[in-house]
Amino acid sequence: MVRARQEYGDIVRLRMPLVRAYLVAHPDDIKHVVQDNHDNYTKENIDYRLLRRGLGNGLLTSDGSYWTRQRRLIQPIFVRERIVQAGAIVTQEAQRLACQWERCGRDREPFDVAAEMTRVTLAIVARALFSVDITQYARLIGEALTTMNESMAQAGLSALFAFIPSRSNRRTRRASRTLDSVIWKIIAARRASADWPDDLLSLLLSARDQQSGKPLSDLQVRDEIATFLLAGHETTANALAWTWYLLGQNPDAEARLQAEVAAVLNGRPPQVEDVPRLKYAMMVIEESMRLYPPAWAFSRSNIEEDELAGYRIKRGSLLYISQYVTHRHPDFWPDPERFDPERFTPQRSAARPKYTYFPFGGGPRACIGSQFALTEAVIILCTIAQRWRLRLVPDHPVQMYPLITLRPRYGIQVIAERIGY
Ligand code: HEM
Repeated sequence: MVRARQEYGDIVRLRMPLVRAYLVAHPDDIKHVVQDNHDNYTKENIDYRLLRRGLGNGLLTSDGSYWTRQRRLIQPIFVRERIVQAGAIVTQEAQRLACQWERCGRDREPFDVAAEMTRVTLAIVARALFSVDITQYARLIGEALTTMNESMAQAGLSALFAFIPSRSNRRTRRASRTLDSVIWKIIAARRASADWPDDLLSLLLSARDQQSGKPLSDLQVRDEIATFLLAGHETTANALAWTWYLLGQNPDAEARLQAEVAAVLNGRPPQVEDVPRLKYAMMVIEESMRLYPPAWAFSRSNIEEDELAGYRIKRGSLLYISQYVTHRHPDFWPDPERFDPERFTPQRSAARPKYTYFPFGGGPRACIGSQFALTEAVIILCTIAQRWRLRLVPDHPVQMYPLITLRPRYGIQVIAERIGY
């Protein structure tokens, strides 16, 4: 996609079977699609149909009036006060993780920091949104979500024929059953409990349709839980994994981060209230998501014909918008491959046109968890940076694996060195 933009410009017709597909790379055109003319664009297309096979019809994949109702219902969970409450969970889980590395650190034993980030963000989302300790199911869920992520991203057209007992379809179905078994347990345990905490699960189970007065069906609840379990941890985990990779290659940035952490926190664990003062940490996360956007591309289809940059786009086309491509657009990002957190000073961020940077998408379908994710990422980054310096294991291959999310294919192997002895 990057090459297509370099060679052909900001709108490129992509050669794909059975669909009329385009890459849309200019920020103004992206703004038109996701924001200004969003009513003309839908998620009713092949990509979201594939996603629905794993996630059902949850907030990420649904569309139209059903999506509007669900978004309105769930939005209050993501207001600032709630994020502050969840911050305590983030701090605890990050501390717990940082302590668990003592033995590996002492023995200089390499480990996969990407897997560790996945573990901690899954634990956090399960506690923050569903008030459950997921530790006992973490491996099961992790494997199931990886399989689903791989098959949703890679299965191609054959996956639309889910009834064919192909190897990939059977694997996906098995993974989906595994995930479901955990989700049904979570729902059953809550229903059986007399004490319902104030969280997303309680909200979903007690919601009533305004017109009919009916509750959400079990399947609707299942789809939202699956959506939030996946969307709520995998992206943040990838953002952090790539951040450690970049810091490992950029000792100056790492040293500046360490200095900020020491000056702002003075040895105490970071809390939500500290996040606004951990400015450089936030700039590091933002720059890391520019180079390695965890959600690296998404698509929309147009309901009616439209015009983009002077080109006629026939109705029913498939438009690809890629953070990975636009975040490297040389008209807006000088020396785009260079890691430079200074690009995200408030002044420089404000001076850039909208949609040159959009790791969380935009318009009405923008990420509902963006503030949660940024707060969580800064707290985890600083909790670890306070105690550990992570050295990349030389010669370990680090490769991008663009599934639904942008993962490191073979993980990121590091050795942790203790700070402060
Ligand atoms: C660094 C972390 C994250 C990134 C980069 C990210 C990115 C995105 C993007 C690009 C979209 C828009 C997708 C589209 O237009 O098709 C999206 C939507 C969504 N995200 Fe995130 N996300 C992150 C964290 C989270 C977290 C922590 C949660 C939940 C706790 C979450 C839940 C969702 C949901 C439910 C949607 C669908 C929203 C809707 O359509 O109403 N995300 N995310």
